[in-house]
Amino acid sequence: MKEIIKNKGSVYCNTGVWNAFNKELKKLKPTKIFVITDTNTKKFCTSLFLNHYTFTISPEILEIPEGETQKNIATCLTLWNELSEKGADRQSLIINLGGGVVTDLGGFVASTFKRGIDFINIPTSLLAMVDASVGGKNGVDLGLIKNQIGIINNPRLVIIDTKFLNTLPDNQKTSGYAEMLKHGLIHSDDYWNKVKNLNETNIDGLEELLWESVQIKNNIVTQDPFEKGLRKTLNYGHTLGHAIESHSLSKDSINPLLHGEAVAIGMILTSYISNIILGFPEDKLNDVSRSILDKFKRVNFNSSDIDEIIKLLIYDKKNTNGKVLFVLLNDIGNHKINCEVPNDIILEAFDYYKNYK
Ligand SMILES: NC(=O)c1ccc[n+]([C@@H]2O[C@H](COP(=O)([O-])OP(=O)(O)OC[C@H]3O[C@@H](n4cnc5c(N)ncnc54)[C@H](O)[C@@H]3O)[C@@H](O)[C@H]2O)c1
Ligand SMILES: [Zn+2]
Repeated sequence: MKEIIKNKGSVYCNTGVWNAFNKELKKLKPTKIFVITDTNTKKFCTSLFLNHYTFTISPEILEIPEGETQKNIATCLTLWNELSEKGADRQSLIINLGGGVVTDLGGFVASTFKRGIDFINIPTSLLAMVDASVGGKNGVDLGLIKNQIGIINNPRLVIIDTKFLNTLPDNQKTSGYAEMLKHGLIHSDDYWNKVKNLNETNIDGLEELLWESVQIKNNIVTQDPFEKGLRKTLNYGHTLGHAIESHSLSKDSINPLLHGEAVAIGMILTSYISNIILGFPEDKLNDVSRSILDKFKRVNFNSSDIDEIIKLLIYDKKNTNGKVLFVLLNDIGNHKINCEVPNDIILEAFDYYKNYK
């Protein structure tokens, strides 16, 4: 059985997961159970969930519209009202059944409702399984600024059943795969080399590397739960990635990008910057660029896109004193946090990305 046992936030994957889930419900004895879904996970994931659900109380299914644009305080307000109207109390339980939007937002709703009630996360997208599943980060976006409002609080349990991925669209699988590539870059040559050759759309071949990814992230967040140092490495490619993602969602000049698609671009740019500033090896920079561009279509940024993306960097949560700080790599698995990067090197990185052959 694949499991990471903790006081709070134990993670289970595949064999035996539903047993662990039903046992936890028996132990918690909640007065009411609310399942937060979005439009897609209500449609595609509730039947698998209900097929395995054996607890005596019927769960109430709540639904929010799908998508990152719904990850805001207005959606929370709707859910807080629904919970209140339906008589949720301190002993009620929330189950978040969905991708990272549902688990981030649902975790925040649970953590703040009546000063915090229990919740269980059942991630249904690859991204939510390999990344959002551990570390206890919950929250919502504030306008264009990603994850600006939130709290660190662990769910009772995380249940990963890769069967949910059967209905996940391929582009969403590839988006989640970007986070596995990131784990490779910050962790080791060994994991990077395995993961870069993975066919992420084939669910049957995914379990082992997916679980390794969960363990890599778990090891990092266990050592540094409040992001004093090491945990910042998980932000590799994200400083630029978040700005690119926000820009793509707000402007028509480029198509909206999924989180992982934006992070994938961010990782090429950041690997280039790492090469210039820290001497990240040239052959590995090539390998990163080639591996990512094999899976992720190149996006054409014009100069005003790039200017706006650079302006958005300033909102990144990892900044201190108005300085934009990057995680860079000396080598695969060897990082340096809190690096300042001059704008002209960021511009060069966009040039490198545009012209890479
Ligand atoms: N808490 C963390 O540590 C952490 C880490 C990484 C990312 N995140 C957050 O996660 C979010 C991105 O997560 P995501 O990519 O899962 O986005 P998402 O929740 O929007 O899911 C992607 C899409 O797939 C659909 N979907 C999900 N599971 C499905 C299934 N099994 N079958 C069919 N459709 C399904 C959703 O409805 C949505 O349309 C971002 O908001 C990001 O900030 C959080
Ligand atoms: Zn991410």
